[in-house]
Amino acid sequence: MLITIPAVLGPAELEAVGRLYAQAEFKDGKLSAGMAARRVKHNEELDQQSDVYKQLNGLVMSHLIRHPVFRSAVLPHKLASPFFARYTQGMGYGDHIDDPVMGSPHHYRSDVSTTVFLNPPEEYGDGELVIRTTYGEKAVKLPAGHAVVYPSHSLHRINTVSHGERRVMVTWIQSMVRDAAQRELLFNLNQVRERHLRKAPEDEDTKQLETVYANLVRMWAEV
Ligand code: NI
Repeated sequence: MLITIPAVLGPAELEAVGRLYAQAEFKDGKLSAGMAARRVKHNEELDQQSDVYKQLNGLVMSHLIRHPVFRSAVLPHKLASPFFARYTQGMGYGDHIDDPVMGSPHHYRSDVSTTVFLNPPEEYGDGELVIRTTYGEKAVKLPAGHAVVYPSHSLHRINTVSHGERRVMVTWIQSMVRDAAQRELLFNLNQVRERHLRKAPEDEDTKQLETVYANLVRMWAEV
């Protein structure tokens, strides 16, 4: 399941991100890629030891992890240190699958891949994130401040940027619920649960929904 998360960042945060990007120094993205990905990866990434990185990390990740749609869709258990990337004219990232286990010395499994779009789509040509799903390819290019989450088991690519600059933050999450189909059921059920909680918090159906949701999470969560 591919879920769009609107307004992770507002205008003030996006302006701060733009200021930080302007003073950031970038390195070849191949340096952080595995053997297979190195062949097809063509972008630039921010040095994770830099001050600018720390500021961007604090700003964007804090907004992402408290977003209610993100929490409900991803059920995060462990979060990776994100990458802040840029793709200028001629850059892209061919078909690849993200590493299944990441992080050292503390390993985590990548269940969910996340991209936060940091600049407006009008600022670059092409550069879509294209995800292969069982229903065919899905191209994603969202407004600045929006995010997309999708299962890390999907083959995906970034179309070559024809002009301008594409700016994104990408990160990976080990979910409390490993199975993508179970996560999707819980996300859908939670949407119904929240609607009932708003409309009829005292209703007997609401209480039953609340119980079923809580106990399904209890049944499936690995923490
Ligand atoms: Ni990827």
